[in-house]
Amino acid sequence: MNLSVVILAAGQGTRMRSALPKVLHAIGGAPMLSHVIHTARALEPDAIHVVYGHGGEQVRAALSELAVQWVEQARQLGTGHAVAQALPRIAAEQTVLVLYGDVPLTRADTLQRLLLAAEGGALGLLTAHLDDPSGYGRIIRDAQGDVIAIVEHKDASDEQRRITEINTGMLAVSAAQLQKWVAALDNKNVQGEFYLTDVIAMAVRDGIKVKTVHPASVSEILGINNKQQLAELERSYQRQRAEQLMLLGVTLRDPARLDVRGELSVGRDVTVDINVVFEGAVSLGDNVSIGPNCYLRDVVVGDGVVLQPNSVIEEASIGAGSRIGPFARIRPGTVLADEVHIGNFVEVKKSELGRGSKANHLSYIGDATVGARVNIGAGTITCNYDGANKFQTIIEDDVFVGSDTQLVAPVTIGAGSTIGAGSTITKNAPPGELTLSRAPQQTRKGWKRPVKKKKE
Ligand code: UD1
Ligand code: CA
Repeated sequence: MNLSVVILAAGQGTRMRSALPKVLHAIGGAPMLSHVIHTARALEPDAIHVVYGHGGEQVRAALSELAVQWVEQARQLGTGHAVAQALPRIAAEQTVLVLYGDVPLTRADTLQRLLLAAEGGALGLLTAHLDDPSGYGRIIRDAQGDVIAIVEHKDASDEQRRITEINTGMLAVSAAQLQKWVAALDNKNVQGEFYLTDVIAMAVRDGIKVKTVHPASVSEILGINNKQQLAELERSYQRQRAEQLMLLGVTLRDPARLDVRGELSVGRDVTVDINVVFEGAVSLGDNVSIGPNCYLRDVVVGDGVVLQPNSVIEEASIGAGSRIGPFARIRPGTVLADEVHIGNFVEVKKSELGRGSKANHLSYIGDATVGARVNIGAGTITCNYDGANKFQTIIEDDVFVGSDTQLVAPVTIGAGSTIGAGSTITKNAPPGELTLSRAPQQTRKGWKRPVKKKKE
């Protein structure tokens, strides 16, 4: 099928009460409009036209990586007028599929069924039965049950308002026909708009069959006009993501307390406890276990890794068998080899740690290259910043850094060396030796604590 998709996205979205154009508000971490574009793409159309208006430049800039045709609708004169802006760019032999930029959760297979309905010169119309149809255009059928028109809620009689079958706004029909009908639209209605919905009656008049298709679930056709609806659809979306993950074999302690905002790939036997947030591109190996309240953004996690509760990991790679947290912070540019242990209140930034190395308590490791089997004692800090520039710390294999040590970069700690607890290391420490900087310990024999003077 020669398909052109037209996505209507020019609406203002005043009810969002936001400076951000409505279609840029995020579902699952991505602008709602990008979900519609991705779904449209799955249908392999020849072109996707996005009709934009409000905050147009911002919308185009935010989605500049998506290959779509941008069509401006300078004034929002109605859905029919919006489609009319795109039609001159669409060849007559194409099939046009109309979607809405603020209806993000429509499934591609539903749209495939809609396109199928439009085959052979029919008009495919996506409709749904709603318990509360108010606000929507109503589907008017004749005695035979054939669709003959759509009447907008505001234009409808009381009797028509009792109809529960509503127009979702999505339809598919030949471009040649649509061009003819849209050109004939007027705005003689309660809202003074050019209604796309008026083409239905025109189609029927021209002897075109209107075939209706229903979505698999109502969330597929729900639009977003305010923050409540945004939150509701976010929950629907997250529920779907959770279901997909469970079908892939992931154990979710509670599918309602998980957020995936990006691409998440998973191995076998992954377990995710509650309130975990995944952002960007995250990949989890086999047998990964993630404790409650962890945040992962753009992370590669190797097989058998245990992330203990309340760990925050961004732009990092965690080697197989590593154990992180609880309360660990792994910052961008960190690469941990296999079997690394990062414990509570440890912050690691832009550093590499070799196989089997450990920093189990209360440390800051920044701009460091740490070898294998290194033990970093509690309270160790790489002093990587002099207030102006950052410097590197190199800790070679098999080093033991005693607790409460400052390593003032640039500095190299030689392989197999030991740093005495409480040291401030400002010069390179030679391999294999004990290095320490420590004021000698003193004992003042017979010294007495001061006592409080008695008041007279
Ligand atoms: C429209 C339908 C209605 C349907 C409902 C489903 C018409 C006349 N009515 O009503 O039958 O039940 O959607 O939600 O089509 N838009 C533009 N330019 C415009 C006007 C709208 O791009 O000039 C876009 C909006 O951004 C939105 C979509 O078209 O994505 C629908 O517009 P909206 O104002 O929400 O239509 P409704 O009046 O709700
Ligand atoms: Ca609407």
